[in-house]
Amino acid sequence: MQRKVGIEALAVAVPSRYVDIEDLARARNVDPAKFTSGLGAREMAVTDPGEDTVALAATAAARLIRQQGVDPSRVGMLVVGTETGIDHSKPVASHVQGLLKLPRTMRTYDTQHACYGGTAGLMAATEWLASGAGAGKVAIVVCADIARYGLNTAGEPTQGGGAVALLVSEQPDLLALDVGLNGTCTMDVYDFWRPIGRREAVVDGHYSISCYLEALSGAYRGWREKAVAAGLVRWSGSLPGEQLARIAYHVPFCKMARKAHTQLRLCDLEDAKDSKAGTPEAREELAKSAASYDAQVASSLGLNARIGNVYTASLYLALAGLLHGEGAKLANQRIGLLSYGSGCMAEFFSGVVGEKAAERMARADLDTVLARRERVPIEEYERLMKLGSDAPETKAPPPGAFRLTEIRDHKRLYAEGGAA
Ligand code: CAA
Repeated sequence: MQRKVGIEALAVAVPSRYVDIEDLARARNVDPAKFTSGLGAREMAVTDPGEDTVALAATAAARLIRQQGVDPSRVGMLVVGTETGIDHSKPVASHVQGLLKLPRTMRTYDTQHACYGGTAGLMAATEWLASGAGAGKVAIVVCADIARYGLNTAGEPTQGGGAVALLVSEQPDLLALDVGLNGTCTMDVYDFWRPIGRREAVVDGHYSISCYLEALSGAYRGWREKAVAAGLVRWSGSLPGEQLARIAYHVPFCKMARKAHTQLRLCDLEDAKDSKAGTPEAREELAKSAASYDAQVASSLGLNARIGNVYTASLYLALAGLLHGEGAKLANQRIGLLSYGSGCMAEFFSGVVGEKAAERMARADLDTVLARRERVPIEEYERLMKLGSDAPETKAPPPGAFRLTEIRDHKRLYAEGGAA
């Protein structure tokens, strides 16, 4: 019998500051509706000095252990998915291991493939457990990033930052994954990149959207073929994609999830033998169904709209937002997930929401995590952007959060704020 494996619990860490997206629009002389309804944004996370990728990853992992009562001696693997690490060689995971005093016997490493890096880590951990190699241990996978395009760029309103830590185990209270049914699609493209030494990403924005949609189509079709063969979805009654209770997408900005969902529906409508809509135009119209988007996607986007892009963590913020609001309602139902990393790689996978999902999500206390943030005016955001999160923090770290406090010679030193 195949082992049941997947996500047991999660924790979220977000930067302590944010800007209101309408303030940013006004400062850039842009109609606020472009950022709110055009991109789907509400707020954008802004990192403090000292709030680098290590600090965010360590804060999320420490929170996961504390909130969910994880026994550190049971952790056999720690993977950090990131594309904004702090060294070309020493992994973020090694810092997290040291800061949290996790077992020296465990396996630690970082995974990188743009925003797909976290999913690469999740799949490595899942397959490690499914193979039996985990031998009763659990894995922690942290997706952590700071998304930066720079001041006055088209990507500026889609910046953000944060971390989501996932506890992966043989007790998948949040989401039992359908191991082995994943669909993948990879293509060698230059849609988004960050040359060595640059802090800000470079992006061919509109082209990146078309790469995302093309890779999604390949990954979704790959998953669908296996899911139909396994009897999880059918070509009868409704379209296969409609048989998933919800679909969480990689969310570089919220409007992208709407475009992604239209593309997924188009794949089903184009491939259905007895297509309900004969002409390509009619299929496009059906694919855009607002009712389908509202029913299957909209409820996952609450956190993304308030935090912005978190690269590797964006999909898992969507999952967190979905289960935060609908964990109880979705118990025992199958959902789909689409991960995308520029460069590029997409993976579609699925899983069944656990009966204890709502209880596990309540412990993650996401409302408090967001409520503790401070809104900053645009001048302060611009000052912080110029300073960068690499400048060590001089104030004491907030309770339960890590901060970079000093760079002594080559060594980065971190401290955790008192009781959470
Ligand atoms: N009121 C309402 N809506 C308005 C508006 C107004 N006044 N003005 C414009 N809009 C709408 C536009 O119609 C458009 O909507 P549609 O896409 O539905 O047509 C939307 O607002 C955006 O307008 P533009 O396309 O003109 O915006 P832009 O060219 O200035 O920039 C962007 C948009 C290309 C996404 C840019 O923000 C960007 O480069 N972002 C970063 C790249 C990115 O996120 N790519 C996504 C795929 S790659 C990926 O997923 C990996 C990753 O994480 C980066």
